[in-house]
This record gives sequence, structure tokens and C-alpha cells, in this order.
Amino acid sequence: MFETWDVSHWSLIRQETIGADEKYWLAHPTDGQPWLFKANNIHENAAGSWSQREDFAEKLGGELATAMGIPCARIEFARRDDELGCISLNLCPEGWELQTGVVVLDGLLEDYEPGYTARNRVRRGHSLENIRWALEGYGPPPGADVPSNFDAFDVFAGYVVFDAMVANRDRHDENWAVMRPPPGSGRPTLAGSFDHARALGSTLREAKITALLQEEGVPKWCYRGTAWRFEHDPEHGCPTLVDIASRALRMVAPAVRDHWLGGVADITTTKVASLTSRIPDMSVVVSTFIEQVVTTNRRRVLDGC
Ligand SMILES: Nc1ncnc2c1ncn2[C@@H]1O[C@H](COP(=O)(O)OP(=O)(O)O)[C@@H](O)[C@H]1O
Ligand SMILES: [Mg+2]
Repeated sequence: MFETWDVSHWSLIRQETIGADEKYWLAHPTDGQPWLFKANNIHENAAGSWSQREDFAEKLGGELATAMGIPCARIEFARRDDELGCISLNLCPEGWELQTGVVVLDGLLEDYEPGYTARNRVRRGHSLENIRWALEGYGPPPGADVPSNFDAFDVFAGYVVFDAMVANRDRHDENWAVMRPPPGSGRPTLAGSFDHARALGSTLREAKITALLQEEGVPKWCYRGTAWRFEHDPEHGCPTLVDIASRALRMVAPAVRDHWLGGVADITTTKVASLTSRIPDMSVVVSTFIEQVVTTNRRRVLDGC
């Protein structure tokens, strides 16, 4: 079983202000490394309360990304007093600066409208073409286990493929980042992937998941996974996550495409099941659903990209 780390007594470094929910950077008590604590969202209504399990999505997302060769934040299950959630190890080396995509695109494009503004529902400017342009000259994340000739956009294409695998519709302009080393110490890089909290249907309640499984609705649910966080034309509908993965793979060299599709092929149902079996408290309904989602998307990506 994956362990749950008790971080109740870790000292607070600071609150993280980016993102929707309250989150805290905490220092590991022995080595002082910063980890971001993200508590699961609790929903209250007249019928009572229920907890979303973003921690399942973050932990499994991290494990599946690693299995595909995607550089990403290390994730552990965590408890802070009575709050359950996860911790994400800081991706940014000491002395470096992390800047999210919104800052990078704002510096590149005139009139860039951040994706979080209500005015920019079609995510104008947040396109694969602009991201490739923005990442020109950037390296892959430090220590990434990718071929040495890969550049930052080659790795970003992998993130988009990974998102299609795990039904992550949340790759907006604050859910990818670059990292800048201190002046004079090398080139900036893409940051490893982070924030997989909305992947793998983490927003669905168990009753809904049961209904999807009984009606054999999982493939249908997967096909509804749109890449709405990327620029799209509402008149022509929003591309699916698999469409955008396919587009990203057509923008990179054939060897890069083959590399990521090899990573996808490696994610067998047995591999997913061996990971879900290590998650404490995961019900059979949820693990079955997650296995079906990844298996369905694996087939869609291999057939469609
Ligand atoms: N492992 C990490 N290393 C460095 N920075 C991170 C890491 N995880 C998150 N961040 C930073 O914190 C911000 C908020 O975290 P995120 O996981 O995206 O939370 P939320 O789910 O609320 O959007 C991110 O946009 C990023 O800037
Ligand atoms: Mg986020």
C-alpha cells in the first residue's frame, strides 16, 4: 500500500496563492525540502457532505506519468490534522524561479488574456502553436528521463498525450510552467508536470461512477473529454483530448511521437490495476472505473494518434 504521510507538524513556509483552493508549502522536518500540501475538497449540501478524492487522481496521475516517462512532481498521500490530501514535492531547484504559462504567454503575445478570466472562455492564445513558440530555446525539465535531444516542446507534447490517457481536462495556462536558473547558469527549462487533481474522473461521485459502469458508459464518458482549456472555436466544437494529443504529436519529430506512443503502449491494464490495488481506501467501483478509463483512452490514443 502507498503510505499516508502525517504532515501535521511540518512547519509552514507559505501559502500558495495560485490556483482555486487553499494550499500550503510545508518544510520536510529532516531535509527541509518544500512540499505543497493540497487537501481534498469537501462538499456540503442538504444531504450531508462528501469528499472529492483529488488525492487519488494526484497520486495515480503521478505514478502513471512516471510509468510513461513523463517528468512530473513526486506525490505522496498526506494527512494534516484532520484533513486528507496529498503533498507534491517542489519541482523547482533551489535558486531557480518558476513561472506559469500565463506569465510566459503574457510576455510573448500582445493582449494575452489569461484563461481564468471570464472573457476568455475560448482560451484565445492558449494554443499548441503559441506554446511551442514560447518554449523555443527552453530545455526539458532538469533530470528528465527523456532522450538527450528532446527540447521543451517535445516534452510538453508528452504532457498532452498523458492528459488524454488520464482524462485530464485541466491543462490551463497555470497548470504548466517554465523554470529559470539564476542568471548565467544555463538555459531555462519546462517544469515537470503538476496538478493532476482533476484527472481520472475525480470530480464524479461514486453513485455516478456506478451508473457509468452499469450502463457501460465509460467509453462514452471518455469521448466527452474535451480539451476546453486550449484555444478552440466554439462554432466548430471543442476538440477532444485525443484530438489535441494527436495534433501535438504531429508537431514533433517522428522519433518523439514514437517515444510517447511507446510510453502509452506500456500502460497496460495490469499495470494500472497493480497501482490502484496499492491505494488505501479505494473502492472496487472507483478502481474498476479508473482501469476502464485508462484502458479506453490507451486504445483511443494508439488508434487516433
Ligand atoms: N510540485 C510543484 N512544484 C513547484 N510548483 C508547484 C508544484 N505544484 C504546484 N505548484 C505551483 O502551485 C500552483 C498551484 O498548484 P496546483 O497543484 O496547480 O493547485 P490547484 O489544484 O489549486 O490549481 C501551480 O500553478 C504551480 O505554480
Ligand atoms: Mg492548478
